[in-house]
Amino acid sequence: MLRMLVTGGAGFIGANFVQYTVRHHAEYRVRVLDALTYAGDRVTLRSVADQIEFIEGDICDRGLVDRLVAEADVVVHFAAESHVDNSLHDPEPFIRSNVLGTYSLLEAVRRHGGRFHHISTDEVFGDLPLDAVEKFTEDTPYDPSSPYSASKASSDMLVRAWVRSFGVAATLSNCANNYGPYQHVEKFIPRQITNVLVGERPKLYGTGENIREWTHVDDHNAAVHLILTKDRIGETYLIGSGDERTNREILDLILELMDQDPDAYDHVPDRPGHDLRYASDTTKIRTELGWKPVYGDFRAGLAATIAWYRNNEWWWKPQKDSVEAKYKLLGR
Ligand code: NAD
Ligand code: DAU
Repeated sequence: MLRMLVTGGAGFIGANFVQYTVRHHAEYRVRVLDALTYAGDRVTLRSVADQIEFIEGDICDRGLVDRLVAEADVVVHFAAESHVDNSLHDPEPFIRSNVLGTYSLLEAVRRHGGRFHHISTDEVFGDLPLDAVEKFTEDTPYDPSSPYSASKASSDMLVRAWVRSFGVAATLSNCANNYGPYQHVEKFIPRQITNVLVGERPKLYGTGENIREWTHVDDHNAAVHLILTKDRIGETYLIGSGDERTNREILDLILELMDQDPDAYDHVPDRPGHDLRYASDTTKIRTELGWKPVYGDFRAGLAATIAWYRNNEWWWKPQKDSVEAKYKLLGR
């Protein structure tokens, strides 16, 4: 059995990764390290609680990280502050967790060895014009727009430097927007679904013309497992479904699937510095590793996600009021 340490395993993508690993990869014994910030909840792991070990702790705690990394063969690093709007309001936790936290993990891997996979985002590349066909590639220069994406870009750079200068056995992946179960209700898709469910009007930033490339969380996690099976140390892979949609299109679809009037939403002030379009050329992971998304039908994936939020109010309801109170303060 390989010993796997998953940081941020109580958050959206990390918890889905842990569940996916328990279901499909019996070769790993999973240990989760998570600080249980506002975005992490142990209850998200309750279906696999007997099959994993959970440790509540901070990736910036150098002593704890040193011990846990020494006891792991593979580290998959999801832990981060992840929400752009929060980073615009208070950047400091982003610098701490995303930059210093990654540094602390890298130093431990440098001391003890083992395989490290760093989870990152397409936002490190900045944005693309709305009307272009151009896409990000692994060679696109970094040009982050928000404190969140700048902190993720910094962490990617640290990983690359630790590979080159210290021989750390790391790989990186930069994924597009994820959707699926257990996503925090601060994020676009769950916010709109749960707004409808509680009788609030959905909120669209600006014109709603901004484009994102929506990728099912299990497709992202399958790609990460594929990268782990290959020893292409130092390599970066872009991950994305290729399914680009405007926010307005997504909202229209949510309203339709939830039997709402097409005009039953509010336009709210735009996010400062709002990135226009993200789109990734994923030729490398498709041709080198043979990855392709299983969730090809976005409409069906979104309908399943809506059904999940309908049936799991116990999971998201406790977060909802405080999230909306925070948005109210931001005027969004
Ligand atoms: P999330 O906010 O839902 O979860 C983050 C988790 O990390 C939480 O459980 C939180 O408690 C934990 N955490 C935060 N700071 C920590 C610290 N200092 N020590 C230990 N644990 C800490 O985030 P997510 O959406 O699941 O994103 C996970 C990773 O994937 C992040 O690195 C993010 O940048 C990246 N990513 C996200 C998306 C997306 O669409 N959500 C897309 C591409 C990449
Ligand atoms: O691209 C990958 C990134 O995707 C990840 O790195 C981030 O962690 C993740 O949060 C996500 O970032 P975005 O900023 O794209 O996601 P968010 O869900 O916050 O917003 C998606 C789009 O919807 C964005 O254009 C802003 C818009 N939006 C968002 C909210 C919360 C709205 O129009 N209304 C809203 O209420």
